[in-house]
Amino acid sequence: MKLVRLIANLGYGSRKQVARMFREGLVTDAAGEVLYADDRVDHADVRIDGEPLDPAPGLLLMLHKPVGYTCSTKDPGRVVYDLLPPRFRLRRPLLSTVGRLDRDTSGLLLMTDDGQLLHRITSPRSAIPKTYEVELAGPLRGDEAETFASGTLMLESETSPLQPAVLEPTGERSARLTITEGRYHQVRRMFAAVGNHVEALHRSRVGALELGGLPEGEWRQLDVSERDAILAS
Ligand code: URA
Repeated sequence: MKLVRLIANLGYGSRKQVARMFREGLVTDAAGEVLYADDRVDHADVRIDGEPLDPAPGLLLMLHKPVGYTCSTKDPGRVVYDLLPPRFRLRRPLLSTVGRLDRDTSGLLLMTDDGQLLHRITSPRSAIPKTYEVELAGPLRGDEAETFASGTLMLESETSPLQPAVLEPTGERSARLTITEGRYHQVRRMFAAVGNHVEALHRSRVGALELGGLPEGEWRQLDVSERDAILAS
């Protein structure tokens, strides 16, 4: 791909604006040699104003989503894109969230511009486990783990029962829940179905990938082994 297009697609500006950056000599190779709009050079060898380019297409990242942000581009309030470099919102192909977390849910959110990867991770056929730490308004009754594991729990207005899920109580009013689907407000609705109410919800794990020490509101690019850790589970 010609450099002018590659750089415009990364959100650095319109083709016209990027063409101007070439004319100004801002685009160079790693050795500082000026590059031209029609050149075809490896992404890793390009510098703009001496800085390496943003990640190449095929980007997969994880964000530690705080409460109060929506997984949307259009919401008038705070959106997860506000936590990324502004250019990331302008990338082509688009950078999308891999599934969604509610505004009031915190934790591990994946984002990618790779449509096939997004589909593989979110497809019910992949059945990738997702683990949530749940704080509840009321005490656990004791029968929730069995109900969630049964594979027969039917949520209101759904036409098929939920796949079995694993519940591990972590306190009188807290639990760790692992599900393999991603139905609308699933965790909150599961606890509503057993007469409780979720007060706080945090996703700690997707497949074998954990947030680790990533601070709230921060993101980092994932490498191939981390991508495999999501898919292999
Ligand atoms: N289940 C929910 O209810 N909310 C989320 O954000 C994720 C799973």
